[in-house]
Amino acid sequence: MNNAHAFVAGATGLTGRHVVTQLAQRGVQVTAHVRSGSSAGARLEPEFIAAGAKVHRSGWEVSAITEALTAAQPTIVFSLLGTTKKRARAAAKEGREENYETIDFGLSKRLYDAAASCKTSPRFVYLSSMGVSAKTSNPYLKARAKMEAVLERGVLPFVIARPSFITGGRDERRVGEEIGARAADVLLSGIGALGGSKLRDRYRSTSGPRLARALVTLALSDETGTFESGALYQRGQP
Ligand SMILES: NC(=O)c1ccc[n+]([C@@H]2O[C@H](COP(=O)([O-])OP(=O)(O)OC[C@H]3O[C@@H](n4cnc5c(N)ncnc54)[C@H](OP(=O)(O)O)[C@@H]3O)[C@@H](O)[C@H]2O)c1
Repeated sequence: MNNAHAFVAGATGLTGRHVVTQLAQRGVQVTAHVRSGSSAGARLEPEFIAAGAKVHRSGWEVSAITEALTAAQPTIVFSLLGTTKKRARAAAKEGREENYETIDFGLSKRLYDAAASCKTSPRFVYLSSMGVSAKTSNPYLKARAKMEAVLERGVLPFVIARPSFITGGRDERRVGEEIGARAADVLLSGIGALGGSKLRDRYRSTSGPRLARALVTLALSDETGTFESGALYQRGQP
């Protein structure tokens, strides 16, 4: 895919920042989207530019994101966005409704609609989560199930990635995720030692760089569909 042009939404996230730099290292033209007011954006922008990526700064209004994609006409769009309960609570205190429904689903859907209006019919790579099912009542998984349904019924070729815990250096501490990832890995290494390697491979955590490698590899291939944690772990091999 020498003429590939990737647009990365969620570029400032743990996964997104590695996706941007890895794409650039593979010689892909990259536009890293950084939302107006992003605190991580100011710090990461020089890193993205040094890697060879372009940075597009804009808000998430429908007109702004549509304009960003119309200008870029990408062949691949990465949707790597998500909020947390802690961020949702902080936003609510300031009167903003920024939760799984409005951010994880709402902005991803907005991005999808803008991507679908591109002449290039880009491949859409969506970072979902392990455990997504249509019947779930968990709001985090429900938002992802809704977005997965949009992709499955939509017009663009897509990759849905469902990783287990994502680990690595974050700007903020997420104690729950750290404990969850460590506990899962310890438990699974025991299971692996007892011969349950398939189970271990299916559920173990993955680092941001490793997951990014899997996403970039899938994005640059012709493969489409839904990829569970184990398949992502394998594809992310250095
Ligand atoms: N962490 C895990 O263990 C795990 C496991 C499975 C799936 N996932 C899912 O995978 C996705 C990416 O995970 P990650 O850990 O790489 O994410 P992350 O580091 O938390 O990054 C999230 C991205 O979303 C953006 N974002 C957050 N709130 C926003 C808002 N209100 N408006 C616009 N943009 C906003 C952030 O931008 P700013 O930097 O500008 O805030 C950042 O670029 C998320 O959907 C996550 O839920 C995570």
